[in-house]
Amino acid sequence: MNGKHYQAHGEVAVITLDNPPVNGLGHELRTRLVAGIDAAQADSAVKAIVITGAGAFFSGGADIREFNTPKAMAEPTLHTVIRTAEASAKPVIAAINGTCMGGGLELSLACHFRVAAPAAQIALPEVKLGLLPGAGGTQRLPRVVGVETALNMIVSGNPVPAEQLKATALFDEIVAGDFPEGALAFARKVVAEKRPLKRIRDIKIDFPNADAFFQFARNSVGAVAKNLPAPLKCVDAVAASVSKPFDEGLRYERELFIQLAQTTESKALRHAFFGERAAAKIPDVPADTPTRKVERVAVIGAGTMGGGITMNFLNAGIPVTILETKQEALDRGVATIRKNYEASVKRGKLTADKVERNMGLLKPTLSYDDIKSADLVIEAVFEEMGVKEGVFRKLDEIMKPGAILATNTSTLDVDKIAGFTKRPEDVVGMHFFSPANIMKLLEMVRGKKTAKDVLATVMGIAKKIRKTAVVSGVCDGFIGNRMLEQYQRQVMFLLEEGATPQQVDRAMEKFGMAMGPFRVSDLAGNDIGWAVRKRRYIEKPNVLYSHIADRLCEMGRFGQKTGAGWYRYEPGKRDAIPDPAVEEMIAAYRKEKGFTPRKIGDDEIVERCVYALVNEAAKILEEGIAARASDVDMVYLTGYGFPLHRGGPMFYADTIGPYNVARSMQRYAANPHGDPAFWKPAPLLAKLAAEGKTFN
Ligand SMILES: NC(=O)c1ccc[n+]([C@@H]2O[C@H](COP(=O)([O-])OP(=O)(O)OC[C@H]3O[C@@H](n4cnc5c(N)ncnc54)[C@H](O)[C@@H]3O)[C@@H](O)[C@H]2O)c1
Repeated sequence: MNGKHYQAHGEVAVITLDNPPVNGLGHELRTRLVAGIDAAQADSAVKAIVITGAGAFFSGGADIREFNTPKAMAEPTLHTVIRTAEASAKPVIAAINGTCMGGGLELSLACHFRVAAPAAQIALPEVKLGLLPGAGGTQRLPRVVGVETALNMIVSGNPVPAEQLKATALFDEIVAGDFPEGALAFARKVVAEKRPLKRIRDIKIDFPNADAFFQFARNSVGAVAKNLPAPLKCVDAVAASVSKPFDEGLRYERELFIQLAQTTESKALRHAFFGERAAAKIPDVPADTPTRKVERVAVIGAGTMGGGITMNFLNAGIPVTILETKQEALDRGVATIRKNYEASVKRGKLTADKVERNMGLLKPTLSYDDIKSADLVIEAVFEEMGVKEGVFRKLDEIMKPGAILATNTSTLDVDKIAGFTKRPEDVVGMHFFSPANIMKLLEMVRGKKTAKDVLATVMGIAKKIRKTAVVSGVCDGFIGNRMLEQYQRQVMFLLEEGATPQQVDRAMEKFGMAMGPFRVSDLAGNDIGWAVRKRRYIEKPNVLYSHIADRLCEMGRFGQKTGAGWYRYEPGKRDAIPDPAVEEMIAAYRKEKGFTPRKIGDDEIVERCVYALVNEAAKILEEGIAARASDVDMVYLTGYGFPLHRGGPMFYADTIGPYNVARSMQRYAANPHGDPAFWKPAPLLAKLAAEGKTFN
């Protein structure tokens, strides 16, 4: 059976987990593993078995490509592999050469011995998918690293370097030298010394005051887990490792795993996990599309967005030249970047050295001469077509051939901007969200003429700077803001009909939004929406808008920056305090328009706000502005504070069922107030409702 996956080295057989990119425990690999262990049993020359991984991974755990396919549960399952390794009559040694996660760690916990490279990363990350380790991890890990450490690892899902756990019984040795040679030497020692087989299941946990400890753990975990059930179930499972005999604990862990796998929350987290991966794939841009080299970046405009955008690249070690028109603006922009970094140092998130390294990569300039050889230039100047035109004509004139010309515009037509150049194929929208150094979302706006290799390149860049990139076609507001406009229209109609800002915010925050719409508006500045609406009144005279927010702006209440908006704010504080002056304004507005206020339930608030997003997104999907429903979900999860445990607006609509969403919309269409016509289900939504299908 000797070959790439199984090799006898004298008395030691080495089984290599080899399934790129992460040695996921897919069906083929599991089959080979069991066959390898069986072959080693049958070969009288073999006295010990080493399991190790090819490349940088031992194993990343389950093979995600098999999720939701029959292969995931086909024999030999991971449970069978684990039982086979544990039951082996010959010593089985896990040689953890690199990253070892989830099922990979559970497999190694069933081996009789474990050795690891010092830098190997160890984790049980299942909780991040709303699950818990379901193959013995919650029962075996506490037996070797201690209850507290195991609990922390299982509840957080975060990786820990092997070196940090070297004093625990998890590892028999940390092997500093080469792999698998060091592991082979260890295996020979086990054979020579006739070491008895150690099975973690046989270790008894002695943990005094367990009840008090787990009660404390439940209180603290419950407080942070909020709407997610998995972290508390992780605590329950680890508690069972102390209170129950091993096999009973295993059964209990299995039970909890099955319960969690069926929760909407876990399904939502898994949807987001796959959604992020799906978003990186562009249907007509194959994965092997050649990309352009991006080693030097230029940013035009050192304002709010330009500064934040620049920081992303500096953080990734990519030099940036930042260009402004005036020295003061340039100095201010650079000073803000430094101030932001220094705030991170104060919070212990960054070292002073790193700040200097990053600042050393930054070159401020007033001259286009200094940017002409950049590989990628991102424009973040004022949101005025005339200003953008001047910048893009200049870029076209001076930038080297092949440079990517990106615009961060939020509302302007990217095709029109591309038209200012003689190279529209090199132009793309890179729509960052504020604060750009923090927000995960990056909408990649694909113009009519954007070249495929440009798109492939900026998607690669997004990954480098750790953004979640979602491709959007060109339309007013792209994916996110186009949907948001409908959400905000409903929010204002709700006020007119009888709701208060506090009630709407409370209902949406209870639903799980990071912030209610009025608090968001006060934070972003009410004047921004006002400016957009003023344009809309002219551009789209047939669309109905409430003018209630205009009244607020006419009172000079622009939000936190003016100390008053939908709420009032104490100087230097951000707490939103309800303000009778706003209530009076709303009451006067209703009276003037002849609206009789009614009591509106929280359910109606949530449905109208969320279904407004869903209906607009259905149109966005039909028009091909977004490639798939999960892309829309990723935009809302990473850019708009939509609750992760609900999986995004489209996933949420799927859990309610498009049929039921459409029915509710018919009810809202019967409400004579607001915009009844808006509630006509978009054709895609109507079709799914009629066919009993879902978006995702
Ligand atoms: N602020 C946001 O939340 C946000 C979010 C996404 C996208 N955007 C977009 O980003 C762009 C910039 O917005 P901002 O909020 O950073 O504005 P800002 O006013 O804070 O910054 C704009 C900067 O550009 C500079 N500038 C103006 N004309 C210039 C020129 N010809 N050459 C070089 N520099 C010039 C200004 O001096 C100023 O420092 C806009 O297109 C905006 O729509 C903003």
